[in-house]
Amino acid sequence: MQPVIELFGLSKMFGVGDATTVALDDINLTIEKGEFVAIMGPSGSGKTTLMNILGLLDTPTHGEYYLEGKAVTDLSQHKCAKLRRDHIGMIFQNFNLLSRSTVIDNVALPLTYRGNAQAKRLTAASKLLRTFGLNEREYYMPYQLSGGQLQRVAIARALVTNPAIILADEPTGNLDTKSSEIIMSELADIHMQGNTIIMVTHNPDVAIYANRVIQMIDGTVASDSKHPETLNTTGNKRPLSSFRKAMDAAVNANKEFVEATAALLPPKTRGKRKAAAARRKRMAIKSRKAKK
Ligand SMILES: Nc1ncnc2c1ncn2[C@@H]1O[C@H](COP(=O)(O)OP(=O)(O)O)[C@@H](O)[C@H]1O
Ligand SMILES: [Mg+2]
Repeated sequence: MQPVIELFGLSKMFGVGDATTVALDDINLTIEKGEFVAIMGPSGSGKTTLMNILGLLDTPTHGEYYLEGKAVTDLSQHKCAKLRRDHIGMIFQNFNLLSRSTVIDNVALPLTYRGNAQAKRLTAASKLLRTFGLNEREYYMPYQLSGGQLQRVAIARALVTNPAIILADEPTGNLDTKSSEIIMSELADIHMQGNTIIMVTHNPDVAIYANRVIQMIDGTVASDSKHPETLNTTGNKRPLSSFRKAMDAAVNANKEFVEATAALLPPKTRGKRKAAAARRKRMAIKSRKAKK
């Protein structure tokens, strides 16, 4: 099966000369359809830079990015915008809602870019807001909502186009425990519908919802662990209640695993890392060739 995302030797530099920051350093990564990936790591380790590149809001300095098998590194801005519109839903830590638009207009906005008629847009937005428990807030302005409600609006907006890939940068970063739990169970439901989710978080209690944890340090992938027992295969459409039970069990089973992964690993030596990256790249290219 075609991976959703493949990165080969991806690097990102900011600034020039002495002021250069290496935000991403030779990242190789494959994400399969239906994975729920948590990206962890200290502040400044490159998580947001990676999310922005994955979401086609930024371009790498070096390396290749394949989105659903398509090389996207050299696409025009217009083509990137179209790909983003059709495949990706993004959730930002600071919500990024339009302050002068109502809740329902904010949620319906991505459908405007798709050229859907107003009635259709509002119906879809309204339906989603209902499932998020916000049906009575449709015509409120963003400043009239709590942080938890705002984040639910932001998630509704990210989902209104039914994107196959959801990118969430610290979606619970500003929220209290209860709001975080609501958001996470909503993301878990979306994951259950077969969508791929990539989520940055600092919080091990949030990361336990994922079935793969990637730890970033200094712009590199320091560790990458999949939890086989909670790994959902694509198209797994178990009913919600049984999933809830499975998830609760997974949360407990996973906790230890995530805590272990979340502990900072010593950075590997550069030589070893380079050699491993080169090996992975060779293998990935070989397996791509074999598939053709
Ligand atoms: N637009 C930018 N200009 C210059 N440096 C940047 C920019 N964005 C990020 N950086 C730098 O890149 C590194 C990674 O940042 P970031 O991806 O935001 O990390 P994280 O999200 O893990 O905290 C940091 O050193 C940061 O200062
Ligand atoms: Mg960040």
